[in-house]
Amino acid sequence: MLRLAVNIDHIATVREARGGLEPDPVHAAVLAEMAGAAGIVCHLREDRRHVNDRDVRVLRDTVSTKLDLEMAATNEIIAIALDVVPDLATIVPEKREELTTEGGLDVAGNPSYYTDVTAILQGKGIGVSYFVEPDKRQIDAVVATGADVVELHTGTYANARTRSEAEGELARLRMAADYAAEAGLIVTAGHGLDLRNLRPIAEIDVIEEVSIGHALISRALFVGMERAVREYLEVVRTARIPMS
Ligand code: PXP
Repeated sequence: MLRLAVNIDHIATVREARGGLEPDPVHAAVLAEMAGAAGIVCHLREDRRHVNDRDVRVLRDTVSTKLDLEMAATNEIIAIALDVVPDLATIVPEKREELTTEGGLDVAGNPSYYTDVTAILQGKGIGVSYFVEPDKRQIDAVVATGADVVELHTGTYANARTRSEAEGELARLRMAADYAAEAGLIVTAGHGLDLRNLRPIAEIDVIEEVSIGHALISRALFVGMERAVREYLEVVRTARIPMS
């Protein structure tokens, strides 16, 4: 069954607006798990613009489902990951000026580096995921690193302006998901997903998990964390039930 992983970065974004202690992303993680989320995701950025080192450590002690640490593969953040030992490390590209992760990582551009990164993290028992475009060349490179998971970037699909653009990108995601699953990777997807665009992604049967942050946290501002998670779970759980 498809799983929902909830990214709580933007609870920390609100906290950082005042630089205090509230709202605490750890509280959001607990509520998300209580509502049925199968995992908690956070991105420890080099600039610490939202989630910080304390959050990651407390989340490690608190999260009882699965902790997925999104991270750039830099020496500093790899050292933190080796110390904290999340269940999964999702390697993403990171640029200082970006508003959010822009596009997938170019694993194919530096295969030997990412093979080393994978081995180092897996050596500590950390599962490794790469966030890439739905592209065969990138998926082949992810397989070659020895990674466990590929997370397909759904941002282009989510930002499509026309139905035909969205359909074209969905076809690309379906093809890539099948290709990655056949190559033996666990396939997940994320970025830009919301209650309007999630269902077609959730219907791709080889995708095992979706990772959702901004739209779910935005919804939670108005309806509360537990209800927002349940609304997403409703889509996640019903997308594959055949209509009778
Ligand atoms: N997956 C990855 C790899 C991401 O970098 C992000 C954004 O932090 C997400 C999923 C979630 O994206 P969004 O916040 O748009 O739901």
